[in-house]
Amino acid sequence: MSTTADELREEVRRRYAESALRAGGEPEGCGCGSGACCADGDSDAAKFGEALYDAEQRSELPDAAVLASLGCGNPTAFADLREGDIVLDLGSGGGIDVILSAKRVGPTGVAYGLDMTDEMLALAQRNAAEADAKNVHFLKGEIENIPLPAASVDVIISNCVINLSVDKPAVMIEMARVLKPGGRIGISDVVAEDQLTTEQRATRGSYVGCIAGALSKGEYEALLDAAGFEQVSVEFTHQVADGMHGAIVKAVKTRQPERKGLPVLRAASSAGCC
Ligand SMILES: C[S@@+](CC[C@H](N)C(=O)[O-])C[C@H]1O[C@@H](n2cnc3c(N)ncnc32)[C@H](O)[C@@H]1O
Repeated sequence: MSTTADELREEVRRRYAESALRAGGEPEGCGCGSGACCADGDSDAAKFGEALYDAEQRSELPDAAVLASLGCGNPTAFADLREGDIVLDLGSGGGIDVILSAKRVGPTGVAYGLDMTDEMLALAQRNAAEADAKNVHFLKGEIENIPLPAASVDVIISNCVINLSVDKPAVMIEMARVLKPGGRIGISDVVAEDQLTTEQRATRGSYVGCIAGALSKGEYEALLDAAGFEQVSVEFTHQVADGMHGAIVKAVKTRQPERKGLPVLRAASSAGCC
């Protein structure tokens, strides 16, 4: 049965709302397996979530923020964050990377977290308050339509979210729009090897589990290039499924995006939650 983009987005929202409620100690519905929605069980614990942060970073954070981590990397470990920067985290979840970024950019900088799920935004607000992070702002919205002005951000980070988007070209265009000239991206995401077809990716895991919707390395590079990014690199860090990897994605915004040059990508139809 095929799933429309709107249905898929709603499935993602529902799945992560449940995860946020569980992380906040509330009863949940269908649940997300091990607690990390981008994971399919205990054997995935080293590939997703808090294990990807070092002990020093974890010690800087409230336990609830660490436990709410659902990423597939640690963008604050490789993103080029500087004192005074304006940072935007796409799909900020429970807020772990926003809080860490806020510490890095200091009181003259700002860390924004953007998420479409009310329950995640509420969890992130609580975690930021517990961390006493003052220079953070959480925004409700979709990463395909970022609620910030053009050329207002120095660095975009994201952790295991772009694979969940049903319109990835729009995300690339929006990243290019809100970044200042010379702005950087430092993103963790699940990325497939180029030989895997969309159908093969869908057999390796669900869409809401961050597998079926993953771009290939070549698709990522082409989309970023078409959106006006240069110095694009996509580097695999750890395997999360056969032929699929946690990856570090970096690029610099130099040109204005050209919408007409963007490849058309369709969302895989395997949603699969409970
Ligand atoms: C796998 S979790 C990652 C959360 C966080 N980045 C982390 O590392 O813990 C995905 C998050 O992205 C959000 N999300 C997914 N698709 C989104 C979209 N299209 N626009 C905004 N938020 C989205 C979900 O609500 C969820 O909080």
